[in-house]
Amino acid sequence: MAITIYPITAQFAAEIGDVDLAHPLDADDVAAIKQAFWDYAVVIFPEQNLTQEQHVAFAKYIGPIEPTIGAYRPDSKLRLPPELVDISNLNVRNEIWGEKSRLRGLQLGNRLWHTDSSFKYLPARASLLYARTIAPVGGHTEFADLRAAYDALDDSLKRKLPGLIAIHALAYSRQRTGFSNFSESERKELPPVPQVMVRTIPENGCKSLYIASHIGRIIGMPDDEALALVDQLIAHATQRQFVYTHRWRLHDLVMWDDRCTMHRGTEYDDLRWTRDMHRATVSDIANTCEQEGVAIPGESQHSREQQ
Ligand SMILES: [Fe+2]
Repeated sequence: MAITIYPITAQFAAEIGDVDLAHPLDADDVAAIKQAFWDYAVVIFPEQNLTQEQHVAFAKYIGPIEPTIGAYRPDSKLRLPPELVDISNLNVRNEIWGEKSRLRGLQLGNRLWHTDSSFKYLPARASLLYARTIAPVGGHTEFADLRAAYDALDDSLKRKLPGLIAIHALAYSRQRTGFSNFSESERKELPPVPQVMVRTIPENGCKSLYIASHIGRIIGMPDDEALALVDQLIAHATQRQFVYTHRWRLHDLVMWDDRCTMHRGTEYDDLRWTRDMHRATVSDIANTCEQEGVAIPGESQHSREQQ
């Protein structure tokens, strides 16, 4: 039986049924899933029962797997294999983290609007988040449609933004939450990187904003003006008409297009309830400036090697 697609919103989010992601997929189903993904940007697969290996295997249909940044901290143990990002409130012993733990301070940044890995030279193309344990109250994920937000920009911003290059860094978004406890190896592996602010999605020709709380600077613009512009764009793009809120059910797998969406986790009582989510992340094909053919002023070979 072919997959079925149930739109949740007209153009942004859809549920996909009649598919078991635990098994290899036939080519027609893969093509239909990809088409739905390009059409909607956020797709939900309910009631999947996946091992970690099956989760990663499905993600590989979309593209190559990006390793977790947890691997940049060789002195600390990871709870999950490096192909999966740990979006939980658990420590390496599977206990709820401590109030003052470093992990908790770092993950608090996930409550800011962002797109995954825009702070890497080669950013993410897609994220696939799987719910293994959910909080009974709160802990939703909100998604903002940056294609619709781009379409609704006024003409002066549509003229201004395409030539601009934003500088993204994990440290910039964490500055917003007051977190600065990065190791030397993390600072070395995660230097600020350039990304365009408007991009075209090749599969459907849609133009999209490409913005995130990871932006700390815009080339050629004073920092206060740059941050004011970023805040203005994030406020514009996260108006209710552009946002879908996903209320997690156990064993949902949600896949979103990082090239044309932002997301954030909503609050929950993380010192009381376990919320155990695993994310497989698929790499984009190139840095966004390269994809858009925008020259990066002062770009060195070094920054390319950092990807
Ligand atoms: Fe995220």
